[in-house]
Amino acid sequence: MKHRAVKRRSVVLGIGATAGVAAVGGIALTAQAENKKGGSAASGALVFAPDAYTTLTTTVTDAAGTEHEVTYRFWKAITYVSKPVDEAYQSLNISVPVKIDGKTVDATGAPILFANSVGGYMPSSVAEATGVGGGGTGGGTAPSGAASASAAPSATASSADSSTGTESGSAAQQAGGKMVSLPPLGLAAGYVVVEPGARGRTLKNSAGEYYGTAPAAIVDLKAAVRYLRANKGRVPGDTDRIFSTGTSAGGALSALLGASGDSPIYDKYLKEIGAADASDAIFATGAWCPITDLEHADGAYEWNWGTNKLSTGAQVDQTVSKELKSQFAEYQAGLKLRGRGGFGTLTARNYDEYLLKTYLQPSATTYLAALSAADRETYLAKNTFISWDGKNATFTWADFLTHVGARKKDAPAFDLFTFPTDSSDAMAGDINNEFGQGTEQYRHFTLYSLREDKGSSARLASDIPEKLRLMNPMHHLVDQPNAGRTKHWWIRLGSSDSDTALTVSANLAAAADQLGDDVSHLYYWDAGHGANEDAGDFIEWIAKTAGHKSA
Ligand code: DHB
Repeated sequence: MKHRAVKRRSVVLGIGATAGVAAVGGIALTAQAENKKGGSAASGALVFAPDAYTTLTTTVTDAAGTEHEVTYRFWKAITYVSKPVDEAYQSLNISVPVKIDGKTVDATGAPILFANSVGGYMPSSVAEATGVGGGGTGGGTAPSGAASASAAPSATASSADSSTGTESGSAAQQAGGKMVSLPPLGLAAGYVVVEPGARGRTLKNSAGEYYGTAPAAIVDLKAAVRYLRANKGRVPGDTDRIFSTGTSAGGALSALLGASGDSPIYDKYLKEIGAADASDAIFATGAWCPITDLEHADGAYEWNWGTNKLSTGAQVDQTVSKELKSQFAEYQAGLKLRGRGGFGTLTARNYDEYLLKTYLQPSATTYLAALSAADRETYLAKNTFISWDGKNATFTWADFLTHVGARKKDAPAFDLFTFPTDSSDAMAGDINNEFGQGTEQYRHFTLYSLREDKGSSARLASDIPEKLRLMNPMHHLVDQPNAGRTKHWWIRLGSSDSDTALTVSANLAAAADQLGDDVSHLYYWDAGHGANEDAGDFIEWIAKTAGHKSA
């Protein structure tokens, strides 16, 4: 279903031919007016060119279904590093509203919605976008020549309409869930919208080397943040109020971007690509179904979905499943995380109860309470495992697992025992590819799968521990709590999402909560991978959290 329902998109202004010098915020700077990309990578200065925009008009349907006509300035494909490896990915777009429903708005001090469109840890480019939302819902739009991302993750398989905020995507729709393109919604709310591209795992150069594997994507997103902050006062929006968003792999990267703000462990990578010398800390993180904590995800997956059958009806290898599950128990004990709401220390023994009480039963309750009496009756008649006392839904963990049904992934879910030999399914061995290096497309990142594959004395490649730290937000929240992290978290997950374990985002939320951060974490009842069912609330949360009054 590829359609573009763009109602109107008109170029009103070109780049001023004589706009050589502009004074912004009292600083006179040379605008790179001749550089139509609006960037200045060629000069190495990474100075934002305020005049290099076009003016566009589009119609945005907000989360409540109301249409808004938005006129906005659009800066396209600004290269955000001075030594790019691949500008098609290492560039960002900026959209700034100037008129909403006929009313002039000033977004100079507005929060910045920093929306990545990464899906499946694939490359994502905004360089060819013709307006806001060009990165889609998180699908890793790839320019020609790069691996197509359309074969990628279910969350992102459908194309997002670039100016309509909401759409139903296939996977989430099947499991009952709405997918949303946040950039148009942010724009219509009066925020500055920045859409960064980033390298991804499938990019390969002529020498056969993979140049977008870990940690490329997070390094690029940090470089994009640094570009904005280096241009504080020049670039529209409040660079101290950056709200990062992403879904799935993009959610993982958004969480990581938030957790790892200003961590020095990325410095050498940032230097390599000529990132601006500025802070990469962000104010807030929005993460939908983050596929993160990858090196522990196989164990968590078996703890969660271990006894659920595959969609083929097959049971996964229960010996493998149990071994992985016991790894989760050990990992979870080591985290020493307290459950939110005074639950006590989370363990593999009590995590089912924690999920039920903290998230799943409240989620079902919210869902049922919102239904009409007749619809609720129908739903309850179909789902007799739920007890409804008129106010609250209760059920057991075993019944919940049965209700979700088929698990999406085999065991192990992430670090495969054997690597794919044909590349027709871009998501097969996705995380092995993410940890690939040089000409090696796939590598193991857990000792367990490595040894299953290569024998009991095999050792992980020596760089893997560092790569894992670079890619895992839990490292920055639990192992080495990072003072530069975001303090505001919005985390969401569909209750039927078996792309990873339900514990992954719950651990992330508990870790941030334990550090005293402001955490909003909810599960969408019966929703699948990639769902976003309260986008309007998120857009409001931005203003509230930022202390922003609309202009
Ligand atoms: C995504 C989904 C996955 O199942 C996965 O392993 C990695 C990424 C995604 O939708 O981005």
